Amino acid sequence: MKKHIKGNVHWVGKIDWELRKFHGEELSTHNGSSYNSYLIQEEKTVLIDTVWSPFADEFVKNLESEIDLNAIDYIVINHGENDHSGALQRLMEKIPDTPIYCSKNAIGSLNGQYHQEWNLNVVKTGDTLDIGNGKQLVFVEMRMLHWPDSMATYMTGDNILFSNDAFGQHYASEYLFNDLVDQCDLYTEAMKYYANILNPFSMILKRKLDEIIGMNLAIDIIATSHGIIWRDNPLQIVSKYQDWCEAYQENQITIIYDTMWNGTKRMAEKIAEGIQLEDSEVEVKLYNISKTDDNDLALEVFKSKAIVVGSPTVSNSVLRSLVGFLHYMHELKFKNKKATAFGCFGWSGESPKVLKGMLEDAGFETIGEPLGINWNMTSEQEKEVVTFGQDFVKNLKG
Ligand code: FEO
Repeated sequence: MKKHIKGNVHWVGKIDWELRKFHGEELSTHNGSSYNSYLIQEEKTVLIDTVWSPFADEFVKNLESEIDLNAIDYIVINHGENDHSGALQRLMEKIPDTPIYCSKNAIGSLNGQYHQEWNLNVVKTGDTLDIGNGKQLVFVEMRMLHWPDSMATYMTGDNILFSNDAFGQHYASEYLFNDLVDQCDLYTEAMKYYANILNPFSMILKRKLDEIIGMNLAIDIIATSHGIIWRDNPLQIVSKYQDWCEAYQENQITIIYDTMWNGTKRMAEKIAEGIQLEDSEVEVKLYNISKTDDNDLALEVFKSKAIVVGSPTVSNSVLRSLVGFLHYMHELKFKNKKATAFGCFGWSGESPKVLKGMLEDAGFETIGEPLGINWNMTSEQEKEVVTFGQDFVKNLKG
C-alpha cells in the first residue's frame, strides 16, 4: 500500500516486521526494519530505490497496482546494496529500457551483482534531472556513507532529501514519520545504526555534513531508506549526526567481561563499586558479553568515555567471546575512548595483558596496569579491586 509523503511523492516500500538480523547475521534488528522506496509523480514519474530481493515480487506487484510500470520515466538507485536494489532485476524484466540514474561506483556494484545490460546513467554531485512542474532532482554523492557507491537525491520544490542509508534506522513502524513514534525507541535505533554501520566513516561523514549544510538546501523532509522519515524538524537528526561524528561520548563507563566460574564477574562488580565510590555521577554499566547482543554492546561502547574489559585466563589467553568483540571494536574505529583490563586466573594469568594489547590494537588508549587476581578474591583482594576501579576513574580525570 502506498503512503503519502508530500505533494506528488508517495512511499512504496516494504516494512519488514520480522527482520531480526541484517547483513547476514552481523547486525541485530530487534525492532525489524523497512526498505523505503519512493514514487514521484510529477510530469515525469520517478522511482527512488527499490526493496530487498526477498520482497521483489511483492514490491513489483504492489507498484503495478498503483501505476502502469511503463509510466516510469526514470529510476534512481542511490545505493547498490541488495536491500535497496534487490527488486531491480524483477522490475527491469518488465521495463528493460527505463533509464537508471546512479553514481559512477554504482555501475560496478549493480553490474557486479546482477550482470544485466541495463540503461545505467552516471550522475555526480550537482547534476540535475528535470522532472517537470518546475521541479528537479539534484544528486549528491555520499561516497563511503557507507559504500563507495552511496549517494543522496534532493528534490526541489518539495524540498525532500532522499538520503538513503544516512539518517536511517532499523525500526519497523506503520506510522512512517518521526513525530508519530516513540522518541526513545527512534533515537536508540538511530544511534545503534550510526554506531554499528556509520561510525567507521565518521571523518568522511563530518566533511559531507559540512558540504550539505554549505549547500543551503531548504530541507522539509529527510526521506531515509530505512525506518522512519524525518518530517518534524528534520534537521534534528543532522544535528545529532554532527555530535555523533565527533568522537561522541557520554558520562558512561562500561564494564565488559566474560567469566567461567564467576571469579572475573565478581571482580567486575568490585570495579564498578570502586568507580561509583570515586565518581557518583558517572553511569556504570556491566555486561557479561556472552549474555549480550554484540550490536547492543557496541552501542554502549559508542556512548562510553571508557571501557573496562575482563576475562579469566584460558590456555594462556582469553575467552574467545572477547576476541570476536574486540575485533569488532577495531572494525568500528571508535575514537578518544580509554580502557583498562582485568581478569582472574588459576595458573599462568596472561589474560589482563593479552586484553590490554587487544584494546590498544582496537584503538583504545589504555590507562594504568591491568589487574589479575589469582583464584577467587580474598577480602583484602576485594579492597584492591575496588581501589583499581577508583584509580581508573582518578586517572581518567587526570
Ligand atoms: Fe541499507 Fe547499505 O544498505
